[in-house]
Amino acid sequence: MTRRKLIAGNWKMNGDLAALAELEGIARAADSAGNVEVAMALPATLIAPAVAATPGLAIGAQDVHPAPRGAHTGCISVAMIAEAGARFSIVGHSERRADNYETDADVKAKATALLAGGLSAILCVGETLEQREAGKAEAVVTGQLTASLPKGAAADWLSIAYEPVWAVGTGRTPTVADIAAMHGAIRATLRTAIGADADAMRLLYGGSVTGDNAAALLAAGDVDGALVGGASLTAAKFVPIIEAAAGLD
Ligand code: PGA
Repeated sequence: MTRRKLIAGNWKMNGDLAALAELEGIARAADSAGNVEVAMALPATLIAPAVAATPGLAIGAQDVHPAPRGAHTGCISVAMIAEAGARFSIVGHSERRADNYETDADVKAKATALLAGGLSAILCVGETLEQREAGKAEAVVTGQLTASLPKGAAADWLSIAYEPVWAVGTGRTPTVADIAAMHGAIRATLRTAIGADADAMRLLYGGSVTGDNAAALLAAGDVDGALVGGASLTAAKFVPIIEAAAGLD
């Protein structure tokens, strides 16, 4: 089973209209790395201008509300991001789970809403350092996955991102062997949940991915791409990650 590599950037609460100039270099790299899919999760305010500036690049959101509309001050619906030109959203990022107390059930509802709205999703799971040190990492991650996987989960619209909380924004990463083991466990859990289509689903690694470590991390077993925060903010840092992915196929 060959899975096309997916390199996704996540700008978090960073960037402004001037920063969209970075997308031009990223779009060029995406074009020349035809075997790699590139996607950028931007602040909601930048989605429409980014789509206008770089129509070839897959632009998405970082979160959505599960409801179609209503009294949810400060939230944004799937239809709203779709109208802005988004093709996907991240759901269940550890920063949202921590800052906004999002549960697996919330994450599942958000992913379900994206499917209903015809958009793709990147669903994040990952353990804390305390959970890893207690030897519970695999149980925590596969538990999160099982509880947040939506009905209708399928490889053509859903990817899973394994992001250990302690590796996000810290400059620390698990070993390649630990990542391969966790991705293997995620794949096995998916096979139980959705059957053979699990082998087509992309499993991304996220947490302190850089141009220096991307080739090694992306070569790990069952790693089909990366979700990149800090190193996605500039073309100078992100393009080498796209090139590392392109060089592996
Ligand atoms: P980082 O963030 O690459 O800055 O560690 C990854 C993420 O949060 O998706």
